Amino acid sequence: MFFDRPDSGEGAILVHIDFPEGADREDPREFEELVRSAGGAPLALIKGSRTAPQPRTFVGKGKLEEIRQAVEYCEAELVLFNHALSPSQERNIEQELQCRVLDRTGLILDIFAQRARTHEGKLQVELAQLQHQSTRLIRGWTHLERQKGGIGLRGPGETQLESDRRLLRDRIKLIHKRLAKVNSQREQGRRARKRSATPTVSLVGYTNAGKSTLFNAMTEAEVYAADQLFATLDPTLRRLAVDGLGEVVLVDTVGFIRHLPHKLVEAFKATLQETSEANLLLHVIDAADDERQLNMEQVEIVLDEINALDRPTLQVFNKIDLMPEHGPRIDRDETGKPWRVWVSAQQGLGLDLLKQSIGECLSTTQFEGTIELTHADGQLRALLYSNNAVQAEHIDDSGNIHLDVRLEQADFQKILSRAGVAPDRYIPQEKEFWQE
Ligand code: GTP
Repeated sequence: MFFDRPDSGEGAILVHIDFPEGADREDPREFEELVRSAGGAPLALIKGSRTAPQPRTFVGKGKLEEIRQAVEYCEAELVLFNHALSPSQERNIEQELQCRVLDRTGLILDIFAQRARTHEGKLQVELAQLQHQSTRLIRGWTHLERQKGGIGLRGPGETQLESDRRLLRDRIKLIHKRLAKVNSQREQGRRARKRSATPTVSLVGYTNAGKSTLFNAMTEAEVYAADQLFATLDPTLRRLAVDGLGEVVLVDTVGFIRHLPHKLVEAFKATLQETSEANLLLHVIDAADDERQLNMEQVEIVLDEINALDRPTLQVFNKIDLMPEHGPRIDRDETGKPWRVWVSAQQGLGLDLLKQSIGECLSTTQFEGTIELTHADGQLRALLYSNNAVQAEHIDDSGNIHLDVRLEQADFQKILSRAGVAPDRYIPQEKEFWQE
């Protein structure tokens, strides 16, 4: 299948191989999007099917010849595989085709590198790239050694590779150090927010679901949103006023993707940590996408990896402007709590319903109210202050203290038990059904 020759971008031949169901299934359409996102220009898509990858060149001789002809015919500069290739496969194919070859992991890393905006994001991507390269270099070196069969062991090629490896190692060490510093700064910011009891709402979702668009629409901030995958790479924080709740912090995060290289998940842990501590997750979903269910499952897999699966979550079904049968609405569970909201971030449909639902979801996890203390409650008062939960204090005529407090319900429970105060003095206890 050939595409129209685009005006710009690196001309690339795309290779997608189908393996039996259940194995590493990738979507050729998404692959094409990824290539365009990286600034590449797809010239032709070569498809095939195999029961298993060919160990040396991933595809068989015939397929390799087909790719070679396409490279020649289209004058392509690059061949992209929609699969993870081993370093030696990548090298063998390059040798056969005499053309640069990149696998899916390399492609995703390249997109990340182009999109990283903050200092931390750039460091994280560079780290992931260096780690990806270093496995290739190390294996490249052993391959070279084998080729030479032990003769001329101190050849210039080897020395070059050895010093390359050392340089890479040093650079990786340096980035680790810098990242640790950035992480500790981020940690301080997070603690400060926690202390001020400002609830955090984190947007998560499959890449291209519309998170940045929604983030902009809700906060009216200028965040780079484009019809490209991975437009967001670093979490961006904005304050948002929610009726009846006050301010919350909205966090935009990187888009998730199938088969995200594991190293990349590791590298992005610090960025995503925000998510595992959020008071509420907004799982943004492109409701009009045929792959919607699969994408949702993929997001859940990543959330599980970063220990965020147990966070209270509100589903946001976005892009309803593309689904004439659906209007903006809130879906509620049997207790009346919102669990899904239908919106169009682009058209601004249902955003008021979303804000209302955020307020409702958070108010069940937040405690906000005025509590009365007696003279015996000195420790409780001190604990509330040290958790930054007190918003105002006044003393009535009989000398009792009244505190306006706002904090996470769970934190309040813990503080009460530490101060030796029965929780039901302040928090209405849920009735068991037989008590009705
Ligand atoms: P990543 O940064 O890759 O994770 O993407 P994202 O989830 O932040 O998506 P983004 O906001 O960049 O939107 C992706 C594409 O979807 C853009 O072309 C948006 O214009 C489009 N989009 C977002 N919301 C809507 C919507 O409500 N309706 C329609 N039709 N398109 C939308």
